[in-house]
Amino acid sequence: MSEAQVLTKLEQASGLDPASERVRQAVDSVIRPQRLRDALHGVWLGHPLHPAMVQAPVGAWMATAVLDALPDRRFPGRMSGMERAATALTGFGVATAVPSAVAGWTDFSTLSREQQRVGLVHAVSNLIAVGLYTGSFVARLAGRRRAGKALAYAGMGIASLGAYLGGHMAYGLGAGVNHSIADLRHLPDGWQPLVRFSELPDGEPTVRRMGEVPVLVYRQGAEVTVLMERCGHQSGPLGEGQVVRDGGDPCVVCPWHGSVFRLRDGAVMHGPAATDQPVLASRISEDGLVEARLP
Ligand code: FES
Repeated sequence: MSEAQVLTKLEQASGLDPASERVRQAVDSVIRPQRLRDALHGVWLGHPLHPAMVQAPVGAWMATAVLDALPDRRFPGRMSGMERAATALTGFGVATAVPSAVAGWTDFSTLSREQQRVGLVHAVSNLIAVGLYTGSFVARLAGRRRAGKALAYAGMGIASLGAYLGGHMAYGLGAGVNHSIADLRHLPDGWQPLVRFSELPDGEPTVRRMGEVPVLVYRQGAEVTVLMERCGHQSGPLGEGQVVRDGGDPCVVCPWHGSVFRLRDGAVMHGPAATDQPVLASRISEDGLVEARLP
């Protein structure tokens, strides 16, 4: 069976769904406060937090593997400098893997079915890797250098599988990428008429099309904002979302997973989306038409 066929089978493995659902419910019941969820999704960073955080354990464990492979002098009854460094890096990797995993689980709860199936195996692989590295850390502290190295190399193998599946989730299945960017590439060139300004309801977004691409037109008094209509998180239809006030500003709530975007500038107020919703340049022509184009 080819690698692509294995991945397809995993994406279609509906037998994983009950476990995914239990994990989702557990995550939703434990990580409840909106501010904490936003922080873990990466709203404050303008980028998903999980892939940025995993650099810490992966970097530490890669450095451990290099140190373990280098020739070293043995000192009876005490660690060499390289052993101390490898032990510290192993422990640092374990310590930083924990918050990385918490951020990943928070993202997991809003993934699609296919993404969750791959995500579950990705997460279990990484949990096993963390267990192996924890064992390696304990063995090193106990002076069992050989066992520490063996456990670390086993952990590296399993973590590599987890990283491969994480890469497939992002690049193959679009988890964590900004889905509204693709729409920008399909906008027609130049100023495009959308709607007569006088026909726009005040304070209520409406959906119009620029070529094949839906956009959200929002009027507040004399001001008009035009945003991409498909949510950056997973392409949810913002045109079907409720308008609420957040921080005193009118915002639209994505009907799929509840991301909140400020209507006047597309700023993301609450996740799971971590990036702002793109806003187009807009103007009102002399004959009263709202027009928009790429900024
Ligand atoms: S599609 Fe998930 S929050 Fe919009």
